[in-house]
Amino acid sequence: MRIHARDGVAAVPCRPAHTRTAALATYRLAIVVGSNRRASINRKLAEAMARLLPDTFEVSYPRIDDLPMYNLDLEAERPAEVDRFTAEIAAADAVAVVMPEHNRSLPAVLKNAIDWGSKTMPSNVWRGKPVSITGTTPGAIGTAVGQQHLRQILGILGAVVQGGEAYIQFKPDLIAADGDFTSADTRGFLQAYVDGFVDLVTRMVPR
Ligand code: FNR
Repeated sequence: MRIHARDGVAAVPCRPAHTRTAALATYRLAIVVGSNRRASINRKLAEAMARLLPDTFEVSYPRIDDLPMYNLDLEAERPAEVDRFTAEIAAADAVAVVMPEHNRSLPAVLKNAIDWGSKTMPSNVWRGKPVSITGTTPGAIGTAVGQQHLRQILGILGAVVQGGEAYIQFKPDLIAADGDFTSADTRGFLQAYVDGFVDLVTRMVPR
């Protein structure tokens, strides 16, 4: 597997697994944007990163903004929005979280979605799921601290979180009007990160 340094250089050159396996296999990737803001910069980053995936990946963007606040009282009859969300994650081969940082942690709306997916314990949808984490904020350290909290939570839930790290400081010119990254360096760094995740998923998910 490729190991990614912070500057985006792949430390271990190897041929990605997805170029060695059946070319037509399709993987379902749920991209969970950890924001409920209409003009979310993380949604923009998620869409730009999705363009870096191979054709063998189909993406969906499960909603999290309409989920009620987790309440054990609702477990007797789960709201339809919760069933929809957990079914979407359960059906996905892999999950990519793209999130802002809120007070040096993950946003409450995202934690709430993770909590719903974690219950009940036997039907925890995160267990064994390959998960990639990235995110952007205008802040200088680009979600670094928030991502550590998310990594810890997903680890406890049994997800297999991609190694390496990708923190992106948002600048107004990060993504062009056509949805692509304006900087070749940024695109190259994120391409290496996405390639590492594709490699992890194709190794973990039998086809
Ligand atoms: C923030 N923001 C923020 N930024 C950061 O770099 N570190 C932080 O700890 C926080 N904390 C924080 C708390 C709360 C409650 C809010 C509302 C905002 C700024 C945040 O990253 C910024 O609003 C981004 O635009 C959020 O991304 P979306 O929602 O546009 O994807």
